Amino acid sequence: MTQRPDIRFVPLSTPLAGSVVLTVGQDVEFGGIGRRLDTQSGGSLRRAAAEAGFKGKARACVEVLAPQGLEVGRVTLAGVGKAESLEPLDWMRIGGSIWGQIANRPGESASLVLDTPQGTASAAARLAEGVLLRAYQFTKYKSRRKQEDGGDGSGGKGPGTLLVHCEDPSAAEAAFAERAAVVDGVYLARDLVNEPANVLGPVEFAARLAALEVPGLEVEVLDMAQLQGLKMGALLAVGQGSVRESRVVVMQWNGAKGRAKSKPPVCFVGKGVVFDTGGISMKPAAGMEDMKGDMGGAACVSGLMLALARRKANVNVVGLVGLVENMPSGSATRPGDIVTSMSGQTIEVLNTDAEGRLVLADVLWYAQERFKPRAIVDLATLTGAIMVALGKEHAGLFCNTDKLARDLEDAGIATGERVWRMPLLPAYDKLIDSKNADMKNIGGRFGGAITAAQFLQRFIREATTPWAHLDVAGTAFDSSRDEINQSWGSGWGVRLLDQLVTSHYE
Ligand code: BES
Ligand code: MN
Ligand code: ZN
Repeated sequence: MTQRPDIRFVPLSTPLAGSVVLTVGQDVEFGGIGRRLDTQSGGSLRRAAAEAGFKGKARACVEVLAPQGLEVGRVTLAGVGKAESLEPLDWMRIGGSIWGQIANRPGESASLVLDTPQGTASAAARLAEGVLLRAYQFTKYKSRRKQEDGGDGSGGKGPGTLLVHCEDPSAAEAAFAERAAVVDGVYLARDLVNEPANVLGPVEFAARLAALEVPGLEVEVLDMAQLQGLKMGALLAVGQGSVRESRVVVMQWNGAKGRAKSKPPVCFVGKGVVFDTGGISMKPAAGMEDMKGDMGGAACVSGLMLALARRKANVNVVGLVGLVENMPSGSATRPGDIVTSMSGQTIEVLNTDAEGRLVLADVLWYAQERFKPRAIVDLATLTGAIMVALGKEHAGLFCNTDKLARDLEDAGIATGERVWRMPLLPAYDKLIDSKNADMKNIGGRFGGAITAAQFLQRFIREATTPWAHLDVAGTAFDSSRDEINQSWGSGWGVRLLDQLVTSHYE
C-alpha cells in the first residue's frame, strides 16, 4: 500500500487511467462518464449494481471486474448518496472509503471520477483530503522487503498517482492546496505520536520542530538553563528523574494582515510527556507502552502550527509545548515533595503520575505572561478518568467562557473531532487544596478529570482570558479507527483547531 499518493486534478475529458472509481449518486444516479461506460459495457455496470443491492448510498462500494467492452480492468462504483446534502466531512469520509477499496490494487495509477451533480471543486478537494488522511501509514520501522509491498504483507503496491477527474480542476487544485496544508499537519502529529520514546525524547522532539523550516514560522527552543532561569519548577520537577533534558518549544506564526496585524495571538499549549512511566508512583506494566503517546497534546499543537503556516493563515497564533520524560530514578521527584511553579504557587506532589498538570502549569503561565493571548487552549492526554466518563468518541472540554466552548463544539461537529463539555466549579477546586502547600496535584477518588482541569485553571492569570482545556487521553491515540484514520497515533485535534481558527480568529 502506497503512502500519500500523488493527487492530480484533471478535466473530465482526460482519458481514464488504471483502475477507475466512479462516484454514483443516490438510486444509482450515474454522471456523464458513468453513463457512457455503462452503455459501452452493455449495461454491465448497472447490472452489477443491482446484483450487489447497491443503491448509491454514501460510502457503499461495488467492484466490477473486467467489464465487457471496456478497456479498463475494473470499475469501482462508489456511492455518494444525495450529493446536495453532503458536508465537507462527508466527502472526506467518502474519499477515505474509496482509498480503502483501491489502496492495494495493482497498477501505477487510478482514476477517481467526480462527474455526479454537486461534484464541486470543494467536494473534489475534500475527497482528496479524505484519501490522504486514510492513506497515512507509519512504516518507518518495517524492514525493507515489507515496506516495498506496503508493509502490510498484501503484496500490493497500490496506485502512486490518483487522478481526480472533475469539472473545474484548477479550482479544485486551489481548494486542495489549503486542505493539503492541514493534512501535512495531521501527518506530522501522527508521526510524532507513533514514534517510540527511545527515538523521540524531549531534545529530539524539539529538534524536529526546529527543523520544520516553513517560511514565517518562528521556532524557538528553550533549554535547561533557560527553563531554570524562568523558574519553571513544576515542569522541571517532572523531568528531573530522566537522564534526558527537558525542553519547551515556542512556535510563532504571525500571519495576520492589515488591521489585525497587531492583534494579540491565540495561544495553543500542549502536554509533551514523551514517556510517562508514572515516575516513583509507577504505573503497572500492562499497557504501559501506550505512554509513548503521552505527548499527543504537544503533537497536535505542532501539527496545527505546521498547518497554519503552510496555508499561510491570516492570524497570529503561538504554539507552545512542554517536553519532558517522566522516569523513576535516584533524582526523581518523590511523593510528598513540594515544588514551586513559575507562577510562585507551590504544589505538593502527592502522586508523581499526575505529572501532565505540572508541565502545563508552567507552560500556561509562561504563555500568558509573555504573549497576553486573546484566548488560550491547552491539549493534554491528562487523565484516565476522562475515558471513564466519555470513552473514546469525545475529548473532554473544560472552558471558562461559553462562547469559546460553543465554538469548539461547533468545530468538533464540523470536523468529526468531537468534544463534550465538562464542568468547572469552585466546589471541585476545593478538592485540590493542600495542608502543606498552595495545592496538591491530585484530588482524590472522584471526578479525576475535573480536578485535573481545576488544577490547570489555577494557572489562568485573568478570569477574563477565554481558556479551554481539552483532555485528549481517549482520542490522541488508539482511538476508534474510521474511514479517515487507520493510525494508532490519530493526529486528533489538528483539524478541529484549524477549523476553530478559520471560523473565529482569521
Ligand atoms: N498520561 C496519564 C493519563 C493517561 C492514561 C492518558 C491513559 C492516556 C491513557 C496521566 O499522566 C496520568 O497518569 N494520570 C493519572 C492521574 C492520577 C494519578 C491522579 C490517571 O489518570 O490515572
Ligand atoms: Mn501520569
Ligand atoms: Zn501523563
